[in-house]
Amino acid sequence: METARIGVTGLAVMGRNLARNLARHGHPVAVHNRTAARTKALVEEFGDEGTFLPADTPERFVASLERPRRLVIMVKAGAPTDAVIDEFAPLLEPGDMIVDGGNAHFADTRRREAALRERGIHFVGTGISGGEEGALHGPSIMPGGSAESYEALGPLLEDIAAKVDGTPCCTHVGPDGAGHFVKMVHNGIEYSDMQLIAESYDLLRHAAGLAPAEIAEVFRTWNTGRLESYLIEITAEVLAHTDAATGKPFVDVVLDQAEQKGTGRWTVQTALDLGVPVGGIAEAVFARSVSGHADLREASRNLPGPSRTAVADSGFADKVEKALYASKIVAYAQGFHEIQAGSAEYGWDIDAGAMATIWRGGCIIRARFLDRIRAAYDADPSTPTLLTDDHFAEALGDAQDAWRDVVATAARIGVPAPGFSTALAYYDSLRADRLPAALTQGQRDFFGAHTYRRVDRDGSFHTLWGGDRTEVQA
Ligand code: 6PG
Repeated sequence: METARIGVTGLAVMGRNLARNLARHGHPVAVHNRTAARTKALVEEFGDEGTFLPADTPERFVASLERPRRLVIMVKAGAPTDAVIDEFAPLLEPGDMIVDGGNAHFADTRRREAALRERGIHFVGTGISGGEEGALHGPSIMPGGSAESYEALGPLLEDIAAKVDGTPCCTHVGPDGAGHFVKMVHNGIEYSDMQLIAESYDLLRHAAGLAPAEIAEVFRTWNTGRLESYLIEITAEVLAHTDAATGKPFVDVVLDQAEQKGTGRWTVQTALDLGVPVGGIAEAVFARSVSGHADLREASRNLPGPSRTAVADSGFADKVEKALYASKIVAYAQGFHEIQAGSAEYGWDIDAGAMATIWRGGCIIRARFLDRIRAAYDADPSTPTLLTDDHFAEALGDAQDAWRDVVATAARIGVPAPGFSTALAYYDSLRADRLPAALTQGQRDFFGAHTYRRVDRDGSFHTLWGGDRTEVQA
């Protein structure tokens, strides 16, 4: 009987395209879906792209895999993933691998990995980015799990991943939940990047008075420079698109309420737990949330705004480009800080520069910019922040006047720019000599005897606020 090198169960669009990608690269692939019609349709439509071994039951599916078995599950994160694991794990043997290619929460991945490890099965939580096109033509792949499982899986995954300068956009991220953690932060950065682009559009439209088609041209120009990226490229496409039914710009006929499936929110929740400031990502999540509160927005529509409405500044688009670049540096600095904090917390030993390398192609945030991040980590692998890298520090310094101007303009004319504002505030917070946190500490000590530390002596102190205000060592 012919055996498959790898199997994919869950043949919705991502699973189907991943299976096709594997088959196109010459890997015989077993395919299975809960409803057999999908399996049949895949083989009927794309059977000539490679070797597919369709299976109508989990037993037949597992039996068709060479050993150690490599089984990829591409189903919805959460309960459906647990259900599929429960269905397949009893059919597997020690040394076999279950690869979860969905957007699972890394804590679930850790739990599943630990449970399956007890049974000798490798559970490989794997972030896959690039949407349906990426899955088919080459995604960015972020596998976690054991180093041993990567030995058996890595070559296959690297084969189907996107390549940049001949380097595959896939590497072993780290043990247990590391892959899904990194994918989660990738999505958080994606949210931040998208929000900053949205604010740029809004300002070009309402502050500079440009029409969507004109703004599309601005983005096209930006995409030839340092901002070159997939998200900038598709922004130009979306803005240039005209609605066939009305003849209006497409962007004007779409309801302005952004949806979210949860990975951005997880990034922020996790950052809160780790104590990592990711204001840019948080504001991006909140901006989507605000947009969706139709009742709140309707009730607030008549609140007074400023009298000034537009700026006649011919250089405004260039300023927005600088604000966007500077804010983008902050977004990535915050995301990488979270990756490093997660890595330290869970003992993953994640190579940050390698993450920048595998995000250069295939994924949603792919960008020329990632080469710069890799270079920054090459220069100083343990840098506490990307902001101080020579290239980024110079770019931030060069951008800062324009950045401040854009944030001030937004505030003056009443266009919300939470992403730009929080990014600038983060930059100013980090470079501040002194922060007002000293006052916060004083207040905490006053009302709750929470103590404070001094700039000139070690130890914790408390002032007897309700008494004679002498200071005591705590
Ligand atoms: C990717 C994307 C992908 C998905 C997002 C969308 O890397 O390919 O990030 O995972 O499109 O999760 O997320 P929202 O629905 O939350 O915007």
